[in-house]
Amino acid sequence: MGTDDTRRLHLPIPTTSDTFPQVADLSTIWNVVTTARLILRRLQIGDGPAIFSVHGDPATNLYNPFGPHSDLATSEKMLQECLNHWQIYGFGLWAVTLRREEKIIGFGGVEHQVWRDRDVFNLYYRFTPSAWGQGYATEMGQTAVHLAQIHLPQLPIVARVRDANVASKRVAERVGLLRRSDLDTEHVIFALGWTSLNDHHPSCDTRQRAL
Ligand SMILES: CC(C)(COP(=O)(O)OP(=O)(O)OC[C@H]1O[C@@H](n2cnc3c(N)ncnc32)[C@H](O)[C@@H]1OP(=O)(O)O)[C@@H](O)C(=O)NCCC(=O)NCCS
Repeated sequence: MGTDDTRRLHLPIPTTSDTFPQVADLSTIWNVVTTARLILRRLQIGDGPAIFSVHGDPATNLYNPFGPHSDLATSEKMLQECLNHWQIYGFGLWAVTLRREEKIIGFGGVEHQVWRDRDVFNLYYRFTPSAWGQGYATEMGQTAVHLAQIHLPQLPIVARVRDANVASKRVAERVGLLRRSDLDTEHVIFALGWTSLNDHHPSCDTRQRAL
């Protein structure tokens, strides 16, 4: 995306805020982020096989009712959706690598979704099993939540998790989201910045990359 792109972020749900940042500014902030141990970078063309490696693994989909990706084409389709999202919003899912290593160990970050008729950040994480248990998802998630809160505090952050997925629930807590049993659906809900005023849509849920 060129630096001459001065589009302001546009969200589907009408809002009183007229202070959304420019998409190019969000891209500059979000494209590549370095943490203590990780490099988080914007998804790019060519990431399909790595997405398939992680998302095609049954072990990473134990709690996903849709199961693992069945073929590379499914992962390429997810990649294209993610690239489109980046283009529209200036943020999106990252590929995660260790510093000084090229191999992708997982994917995660925040994406825009409409959930319960509101614009929200959906928090996502899926890592290859050999990388589990070392705090990487927490490190990535804390960074995503931090950026979201700093740059788009208007948007609540939501994580939707299967109750049996203990690791995922723990990551949601560790990155600072609050357990919101009042919002539960078939998922247990963790959220930050969600106010219950005017919340009249208890049954609405989406199928987009729920955790
Ligand atoms: C969920 C997932 C991303 C966690 O990644 P991770 O890098 O292992 O997570 P972390 O190392 O940051 O661990 C975060 C917390 O979860 C705990 N945890 C990790 N794996 C766990 C497990 N199998 N059972 C119980 N707790 C677990 C850790 O101990 C840590 O808690 P602590 O800080 O209190 O010790 C990873 O297990 C994964 O990719 N799973 C498959 C995909 C998935 O389920 N995604 C989320 C869908 S809701």
